[in-house]
Amino acid sequence: MRDALGSVQSVLVLGGGSDIGRAVARALVGRRARTVVLAGRHPEEMEAAARELRDAGATKVEVLPFDALDPASHEPFVEDVFDRFGDLDLVLVAFGVLGDQAVAETDPAAALEVARTNYIGAVSVTIPIAGRLKAQGHGTIVALSSVAGERARRSNFVYGSSKAGMDAFFCGLGDSLVGTGVQVMVVRPGFVRTKMTEGRPAAPLSTTPEAVADAIVRGLERGRETVWVPGSMRWVMSVVRHLPRPVFRRIPL
Ligand SMILES: NC(=O)c1ccc[n+]([C@@H]2O[C@H](COP(=O)([O-])OP(=O)(O)OC[C@H]3O[C@@H](n4cnc5c(N)ncnc54)[C@H](OP(=O)(O)O)[C@@H]3O)[C@@H](O)[C@H]2O)c1
Repeated sequence: MRDALGSVQSVLVLGGGSDIGRAVARALVGRRARTVVLAGRHPEEMEAAARELRDAGATKVEVLPFDALDPASHEPFVEDVFDRFGDLDLVLVAFGVLGDQAVAETDPAAALEVARTNYIGAVSVTIPIAGRLKAQGHGTIVALSSVAGERARRSNFVYGSSKAGMDAFFCGLGDSLVGTGVQVMVVRPGFVRTKMTEGRPAAPLSTTPEAVADAIVRGLERGRETVWVPGSMRWVMSVVRHLPRPVFRRIPL
């Protein structure tokens, strides 16, 4: 359960090696979270992050294998985590791949990997998570969506469409959970400087994992269902979303 001041005490990060995921875990431990489970494809690579969280004051930090591309493992994985760690206050869905748009446009396997990771993987692992959170009667799911899902761009539509799908799923899930004690927060960052965007020219309004983490913490304190990072992205995307298609097509995004 959250403590008397409303701070999250136990956290599961799916995609525990994610730069944004790690920044959120650090921010939450800085605000008295004590149990953190980092779950991802390469547990050995998450050990350094786990040590960092222990040094920052977390008392129970574990690293577990989790693969978004293996939906058959998701239900047993979720059962195991909740059985072993008890109630969880927050689950952060932080895994994702950007993929290579040029390759994905001609190679169905490459496009499918993006869709299966970002959309199918998120749906598959979140259904049992929502069930366990509902059973415990409290908790928050924080899903890292993207402004890319708000309107799919010519240059990035495979990734954008996968984020649009997962974003719609989490919005609908949040609505379905009203009255259960469980909340869903959908986070839509713009360009964040992380491993995922390394080597790419920073887009306007680019931001950092720490700024995303701060926005999430503020959003949790205020009970927000949608968080844009930076906040001005909300207004930018509202305009972009409504541009006529012939105009939108001509903008070099
Ligand atoms: N960076 C941005 O500009 C930006 C903007 C908006 C939204 N986002 C979203 O924010 C989330 C975190 O991204 P990030 O920027 O922190 O990038 P990141 O550091 O590259 O993190 C992505 C994480 O996803 C994990 N992952 C990929 N495929 C997986 C799979 N099959 N199973 C389990 N884990 C898997 C990666 O694991 P490995 O470490 O094993 O590769 C990595 O830890 C993503 O969903 C991304 O789409 C990012």
